[in-house]
Amino acid sequence: MSFVIAIDGPAASGKGTLARRLAAHYSLPHLDTGLLYRATACALLEEGLRLDDVESAVAAARSLSLTDFDEKRLRARDMGEAASVVAAMPAVRAALVDMQRGFAARPEGAVLDGRDIGTVICPDAKVKIFVTAAPETRATRRALELARAGEEADYTAILEDVKKRDARDSARSAAPLKAAADAVTLDTSDLDIEEAFAAARGIVEKARR
Ligand code: DC
Repeated sequence: MSFVIAIDGPAASGKGTLARRLAAHYSLPHLDTGLLYRATACALLEEGLRLDDVESAVAAARSLSLTDFDEKRLRARDMGEAASVVAAMPAVRAALVDMQRGFAARPEGAVLDGRDIGTVICPDAKVKIFVTAAPETRATRRALELARAGEEADYTAILEDVKKRDARDSARSAAPLKAAADAVTLDTSDLDIEEAFAAARGIVEKARR
């Protein structure tokens, strides 16, 4: 089995930053799987279709090419919410499995981050990290991130958003957000980026031995 690092966790837990940093550190390719769900939702909205149009959503997921989308648009707050809606549809998830597993099967290994990497996409991953943080911490981080990107960043609305997405992502029956039984949980509430990265590296090194 090649060197696969599976990183899961709720919205704005810091998993994306950690995944990017780990990928750079170990010279591995990185796939942010949230972007696949965001792009699927974006494709529907751009065509004026409803988010609950399963057939169109599956077709969009199957023909997805991330380079067709503006990443800034995909990372906007409303697209996270829309992604969470399409991600609850089992047929959409099924349409995206092969692409994700194909990425993980690269000979050199890979880092994937999302909600179900350790549980569904790469159950045999050598390293599984479940990144969490208190909802308030996550909302503060997301607000800062959005403000830096020049987007509107109302803390109360973002906190509500974070909680709503947690609830939807955890309660759905198809691949709900949860830690794999063999994942190591990393709570980043009281850690800055460097501390969280050091802790994540420690988890990887231990799992590799
Ligand atoms: O990680 P993110 O915020 O970009 O993800 C956007 C939404 O996509 C998230 O609310 C749930 C969904 N998602 C998922 O269901 N499974 C994944 N592996 C990644 C994201």
